[in-house]
Amino acid sequence: MEKRIQQKIMTILLDHMSDGVHIIDQDGYTLAYNRAMERIEGVIPDEVIGKHFSEIFPKLDYTNSTLLQATRHDQVVEDFRQHYTNLRGERITTINHTYPIIVDGKNYGALEFSRNITDEKDLTDQVHQLIGGELLETKPNYYTFDMIIGSSELMQQALRIARRCAETDATVLIVGQTGTGKEMFAQSIHNASRRQHQRFIGVNCAALAESILESLLFGTVKGAFTGSVDRKGLFEQADRGTLFLDEINSLSPNLQAKLLRVLQEGFVRKVGGSKDIRVDVRIIAATNQPPREQVEQGTLRRDLYYRLNVMRLDLPTLSQRPEDIMELTERFIDKYSQKAGRDITGISHDFRDALKRHEFRGNVRELEHLIEATIHMKETDGELELSDLPDHFTRDMDDQLLGLYREDQPLMEYLADIERNLIQSAYFKEKGHVSNTAKRLGLPRQNLQYKLKKYGIV
Ligand SMILES: Nc1ncnc2c1ncn2[C@@H]1O[C@H](COP(=O)(O)OP(=O)(O)OP(=O)(O)O)[C@@H](O)[C@H]1O
Ligand SMILES: [Mg+2]
Repeated sequence: MEKRIQQKIMTILLDHMSDGVHIIDQDGYTLAYNRAMERIEGVIPDEVIGKHFSEIFPKLDYTNSTLLQATRHDQVVEDFRQHYTNLRGERITTINHTYPIIVDGKNYGALEFSRNITDEKDLTDQVHQLIGGELLETKPNYYTFDMIIGSSELMQQALRIARRCAETDATVLIVGQTGTGKEMFAQSIHNASRRQHQRFIGVNCAALAESILESLLFGTVKGAFTGSVDRKGLFEQADRGTLFLDEINSLSPNLQAKLLRVLQEGFVRKVGGSKDIRVDVRIIAATNQPPREQVEQGTLRRDLYYRLNVMRLDLPTLSQRPEDIMELTERFIDKYSQKAGRDITGISHDFRDALKRHEFRGNVRELEHLIEATIHMKETDGELELSDLPDHFTRDMDDQLLGLYREDQPLMEYLADIERNLIQSAYFKEKGHVSNTAKRLGLPRQNLQYKLKKYGIV
């Protein structure tokens, strides 16, 4: 057949497909780009055809474009979900399939199909909207191991274990207090695992009533209860990917038993359904309390605990790894001063001391917010100083005093703790001004100075 005719057929075919198609040659020049792709990405075919990929999509290269990558190897990538902002500024989600064009063992380029699923409202998205994004993270999961900061031995050890978790397909139980990075680690494990191109769905088990959570996780069939429709549950939606069950101890005993069955048998059954549906989902569970205690208290089923605890990742609190505080602080200063377009050069001595002594009950999240807020409040560039610290942080420090008392503690020690904290808090409130702090506390200046040294506040 004549080449012109072949080409005409190809154009008709491409332009009447509902999926987007983009074909490039071995060097990255576009051979074909159809109308459906134009609707997805916002680029007109005439602008793309014949041009090099990097001219049209300067942010994409061989490290992050599946299409370019496919010109270098012979690997087919199917069902790859992508979230991005297209050239019209619209947030979109697509499912892509990428195929290298290999003839007689030689790579002649690559072809990508792309389907826009942004408007396909599935159960996940509906619930997501319903509760304002609290429950589910359908936003792109972007954390990777290299974003996790901390050279301390404890953090390095956690990273080593987490990397091992990523190499396996076993269930992982992440234990760590609030703000220690459970979500960050869960996503990083997924993104380093063989499931990285599939979905990562996060569910907060504490955020929903039992019956809704059950429908959400397992799916429903039409007629199971009034108003129920046929819907896939999150297990099915996360098929071949990872399901992150946060605050696992908040699941009711009944749902814990159902979860255990899925883990043991690899099947889910929808609410009201009679069919077993095979699912291949990697489970990462998380909890912010020691799981053994929860088992003793009866909030976590023992059998489920043993099943989840196949690989165990304990995340240290910030106070267990104080040597990381400065490193984290520097990174957060870089991050937020860049975001705010400010030139923050570092932190002053008194600010550094204050950070070292502060008890970060909210762990890394608290530190991050503190730095962000301080940068926003600061009026000038330069070093962050203690006097830039927003007032609400010093108020929070007062609230922390309430939780300090332990009954096994000698009274004198307890009182000394209280005294130390009250003095420190007043010192922060007066932004490190000794005379004003003395006035605030009704102490002679000399006496205060002695106590500031004694408690290591200055
Ligand atoms: N090691 C770390 N390096 C850099 N940033 C971190 C680290 N750990 C936590 N963060 C940051 O702290 C914040 C809280 O992390 P994350 O949401 O993963 O904590 P979490 O354990 O899930 O907390 P919660 O129990 O409250 O849900 C995030 O903004 C994250 O980027
Ligand atoms: Mg979390």
